[in-house]
Amino acid sequence: MGRYYITTPLYYVNAEPHIGHTYTTIVADTWARFLRGRGDEVVLTTGTDEHGDKIAAAAAAAGATPRAHVDRISAVFRQTWDAIGITYDQFIRTTDPAHRCNVQEVLARVHAAGDIYFGSYGGLYCIGCERFYTEKELVDGRCPDHQTVPVYLAEDNYFFRMSKYQAPLIAYLEAHPEAITPEQYRNEALAMLRSEALGDLCISRPKSRLEWGIELPFDTNYVTYVWFDALLGYPSALKERGEQTFARLWPETHHIIGKDILKAHAIFWPTMLMAAGMPMFRQLHVHGYWSRGESKMSKSLGNVVRPLDVQRRFGMEAFRYFLLREMAFGHDAAFSEDLFITRVNADLANNLGNLVSRTLAMQQRYFNGVIQDLGTWTGEDQELAASFETAIREMPAFAEKLLFHRALESLWRAIDHANKYVVTTSPFTLAKDAAQRPRAGAVLHHLCEALYVTAALLAPFLPETAARLFTLLDVVPVAALPTTWRWGTALPGEHSTKPPEILFPRIEVKP
Ligand code: MSP
Repeated sequence: MGRYYITTPLYYVNAEPHIGHTYTTIVADTWARFLRGRGDEVVLTTGTDEHGDKIAAAAAAAGATPRAHVDRISAVFRQTWDAIGITYDQFIRTTDPAHRCNVQEVLARVHAAGDIYFGSYGGLYCIGCERFYTEKELVDGRCPDHQTVPVYLAEDNYFFRMSKYQAPLIAYLEAHPEAITPEQYRNEALAMLRSEALGDLCISRPKSRLEWGIELPFDTNYVTYVWFDALLGYPSALKERGEQTFARLWPETHHIIGKDILKAHAIFWPTMLMAAGMPMFRQLHVHGYWSRGESKMSKSLGNVVRPLDVQRRFGMEAFRYFLLREMAFGHDAAFSEDLFITRVNADLANNLGNLVSRTLAMQQRYFNGVIQDLGTWTGEDQELAASFETAIREMPAFAEKLLFHRALESLWRAIDHANKYVVTTSPFTLAKDAAQRPRAGAVLHHLCEALYVTAALLAPFLPETAARLFTLLDVVPVAALPTTWRWGTALPGEHSTKPPEILFPRIEVKP
């Protein structure tokens, strides 16, 4: 049995959830469902990052106190994930008192060990990013993310001796090539580490400038820099499950993030773990960015797609399918209503939807729903079974590596094959001829078997659709294909299936 501690980023509460957060969270949920389905121990954490300049500014803009603001938006995140069926085990807020204690404990320890020192620093600071920039990193003197001119800030602060861990981190990443995936992001992290001397990290903010944070345990005039605070939310959340679980699962940590926060996770975080004497995460999984038209989609740029709106209009299963099928993990992808509708109509309404409705309708019309004998398999039957057996083999191998688009592609090849099988075997013609009726029954039995396999394989990806398919087939739902299963064993003789339902109505586009 494998063990997995899976995390999404802890999202900033400066705005409400959009497609980007939804994608990462659905990826984490799908992966967790897949691993649990095969019997692994999984804890999935998500949550909210609630301190720092950005949040204080968002609260002020909303005319609220930081506390009222973070309570409200954090609840929106949590309710959104509940409404769309995310199976998280822990939801951490960085304003939780237990987390504050953890952060202070780590700070005190790293400080005592001499890896945190007091010093002076002046530099160009972007409020949007909450960090200092070097001249080199700016584009035409502006922040590359926010296109704003950073302000010059000079102040005394506490620094984490990140530079000390530069060489150990390079050595670690060289010895553990799988630690950051896909490979392009490992290369990016290594390039950052090798190209220049890693400075020390400013980890405090004077209270005179920012009060909304976790107080440093060794100087009450300062609060903790938001990243030093938020990253420690990952262990804080797991500690909530007890010391034993923490000890067992922490070394099995898998972080899922978008490429925007690669530096914090591939450089700040591992050096922090080294300084704190904690085991390194097992893997950092980095995905690309969803864009819409030209501009990058992020909260600060106000170009968003709200998950609950999509759910209301098209249903969550269609949205899950689109997100998981359209983005190759690690690469960027575009979202538009056209792409969405085309994909959903083609794959879900037509391909899968038709297979389900035709099969179950014929099964009902010709045999009153009762499953018939498989008889002697023909070459066509064998090819159909082989197609699904390929998907059964390929899907878990892809899903394990978060290559969900390939996993779905593989299953859809089999579904496609099943639709062609309907055409070539032509059960509707066979059923009209008394002598051929047994063969029609056998063909439909093969097709029902295909629907069973489809439901079992789809369970982590489209859980509601899988559940509906199991109900239509009138069988006990499973979270994964049972190991005892063989083609032809899912539906015993005399078993009856139910009349079809429309799983995915075709989305009509107004001219
Ligand atoms: N609070 C930090 C993370 C701290 S983790 C200890 C943060 N929060 S965020 O709200 O800005 O979320 C960033 C994450 O949201 C990205 O890493 C990614 O997971 C997701 N996305 C936000 N916009 C996105 C896209 N346009 N496309 C894909 N995912 C993106 O950073």
